Amino acid sequence: MKVLFLFFGVLLTVHAKSLDNHSCKECHENIYNEYQQSYHAKSYFTDELHQKVADAVSTKRYACARCHMPMANNLKDLISGKARPDKNNKTHTDAISCFFCHTIAYVKKSHRFNINIKSRQADGYKPTLYGRLVNPDENDKHSSVNNPIYGKHVCSGCHSHKLNENNVTIFAAMQPNQDSIACIKCHMPEVEGGAEKMDKRARGHHASHRFLGIHDKAFRKTGVDINLSVSGESLEVTLHNKMAHPLIIQPARVKFIKAQIKRSGKIIWQNYREKPEEDRQGYFGYSFQKEGKKIILPATATSGSVHNLDAKSSVVLHYHTPRVQKGDKIIVGLWVQLAKSDCTSIVTLEDQSLIKPELIKSVAHVVKTQ
Ligand code: HEC
Ligand code: HEC
Ligand code: HEC
Ligand code: HEC
Ligand code: HEC
Repeated sequence: MKVLFLFFGVLLTVHAKSLDNHSCKECHENIYNEYQQSYHAKSYFTDELHQKVADAVSTKRYACARCHMPMANNLKDLISGKARPDKNNKTHTDAISCFFCHTIAYVKKSHRFNINIKSRQADGYKPTLYGRLVNPDENDKHSSVNNPIYGKHVCSGCHSHKLNENNVTIFAAMQPNQDSIACIKCHMPEVEGGAEKMDKRARGHHASHRFLGIHDKAFRKTGVDINLSVSGESLEVTLHNKMAHPLIIQPARVKFIKAQIKRSGKIIWQNYREKPEEDRQGYFGYSFQKEGKKIILPATATSGSVHNLDAKSSVVLHYHTPRVQKGDKIIVGLWVQLAKSDCTSIVTLEDQSLIKPELIKSVAHVVKTQ
C-alpha cells in the first residue's frame, strides 16, 4: 500500500529536482565506479564516434540528445537547434545518468522510437528513486521505491528501435512486448559488495553497473556459438546467436566471418580475397540508400536493408572449398568493425581502433581422416 501511495504521489506532484552522478558516489561507491567505466557514462564529449557522426548529421540540431544526453536541462532546445552541447553543463556531461535511469516511471511505446516518461518529483521533498531492492534501507538523500515497471521496461525506452523521419529503420533491437529482465541478467550480473557502502541489509551483492558489451574482449565472446562441420569439398559454419537481440543492433557496426583452411601452415583457401563483404552470407550489417543511391548516414535514408541474425536463432553458412586432407586446419573467426570502413568517407576518426577489425572469437578444427 505504501509503495502504491508513494508511486502515485510522485507522479501527481510537479517540479523536478535532479541529482548529479557524482552525488551518488558518497554512498554507492562501487556502483559509481562501475558505471564510470561503462558506455552509459560516455557522452558527446567523450565518445569520438558519436560526436563525429552527430556533427556529420547536423551541426545545428542535436536530436541524439533524447537517448545520449537525456538528462539535459535544455533537451528541447538541443533537439530543435536553439542550444548546443555544453561541456560545462553537468546535465550534459552526465550522459545516461544514474538519476535518469532511476526515475523512469514508464516507457511509452511509439512508432519511430519509444519515449521515457519521467516521474515528477515533489518540490521540497527528497527525490524518489526506483529500483528492485526488497525492503530498501532508508537514507537522507532520497526515498527508495521498489517498482516492478522498472525491471520490465527500463531498457526499452532507448534500446528498443529507432526509425528516421522517412520511416526507415535505423536499428531494431527489441520486440514491442519484450521486457528488460533478460537484458539485466546478462548485462548487469550480480557481483560482490552491497548496494550501498553501509550495507545495513547485509545483501553482500549488487547488480553490476559496468554494462559490459561489444567493447569488452571477454564478455563479447559469450554472445555467439560457432560450430564447424567439414567433409570433402564442403565447410558448414553454424552460428547460434544466444543474445536476446539481433547480432547487429548498431548501424555503424559490421560483424563478419573470416574462414581459412591451412595446409602445412599455408593458407590454401579463404572465404574472401580482400574485403570481407565479398562473402555476402558471412557479412552482417546495415546498408542505406537515398533515392536508390547508397549513403552512409542513415538520418536521411529513404530505404535501408540489413543482413542480420535474429535473437536466439541460428544460421548455417555453406562454403565450397578445396577437398580437405588429413592434417588440414580450419580456422573460423567472428570479427567486428566498430565503425565500418564506409564511415571514413564521411568522418575522420583519430582513434584507428574503431576501424580496425577486432576478433570476437574463433574456433579451429583439424581434419583427422581423409
Ligand atoms: C532512440 C534512441 C537513440 C537516438 C535518438 C540516438 N541513438 Fe545512438 N545509440 C542508441 C543506443 C541505444 C545505442 C547503443 C546501442 C548499440 O551500441 O548497439 C546507441 C549507440 C550509438 C553509437 C555507437 C557508440 C559507440 O561508441 O560505438 C553511435 C555512433 C550513435 N549511437 C550515434 C548516434 C547519433 C549521431 C545520433 C543522432 C543523430 C543518435 N545516435 C541518436 C540510441 C539512440
Ligand atoms: C546518503 C547516502 C546515499 C546517497 C547519497 C545515495 N543513496 Fe541511493 N541508497 C542509499 C541506501 C542506504 C539505499 C538502500 C540500500 C539497501 O537497502 O541495501 C539506497 C538505495 C538506492 C536504490 C535502490 C532503490 C530500490 O528501491 O531498489 C537506488 C536505485 C539508488 N539508491 C540510487 C541512488 C542514486 C542514483 C543516487 C545519486 C543520485 C543515490 N542513490 C544516492 C543511500 C544513498
Ligand atoms: C536513456 C537511454 C538509455 C537507457 C534507458 C538504457 N540505455 Fe544502454 N545505452 C544507451 C546509449 C545511448 C548507449 C551508447 C552510448 C555510447 O556508446 O556512447 C548505450 C549503450 C549500452 C550498452 C553497450 C555497451 C558497450 O560497451 O558496448 C549496453 C550493453 C547497454 N547500453 C545496456 C543497457 C541495459 C541493459 C539497459 C536497461 C537496464 C539500458 N542499456 C538502458 C542508452 C540507454
Ligand atoms: C544472453 C545474454 C544477453 C542478453 C539476454 C542480452 N544481451 Fe546484449 N549483448 C550480449 C553480448 C555477449 C554482447 C556483446 C557481443 C555482441 O554484441 O556481439 C551484447 C551486446 C549488446 C549491446 C552492444 C552492441 C553494440 O554493437 O554496441 C547492447 C546495446 C546490448 N547488448 C543491449 C541489450 C539489451 C537492451 C538487451 C535486452 C533486450 C540485451 N542486450 C540482452 C549478451 C546479451
Ligand atoms: C541504464 C540505466 C541505469 C543507470 C544509468 C544506472 N542504473 Fe542503477 N540500476 C539499473 C537497473 C536496471 C537496476 C536493477 C538491477 C536488478 O534489479 O537486478 C539498478 C540497480 C541499482 C541499485 C540497487 C542495487 C541492486 O543490486 O539492485 C542501486 C543502488 C543503483 N542502481 C544505483 C545507481 C547509481 C548510483 C548509478 C550511477 C552511478 C546508477 N544506478 C546508474 C539501471 C541503471
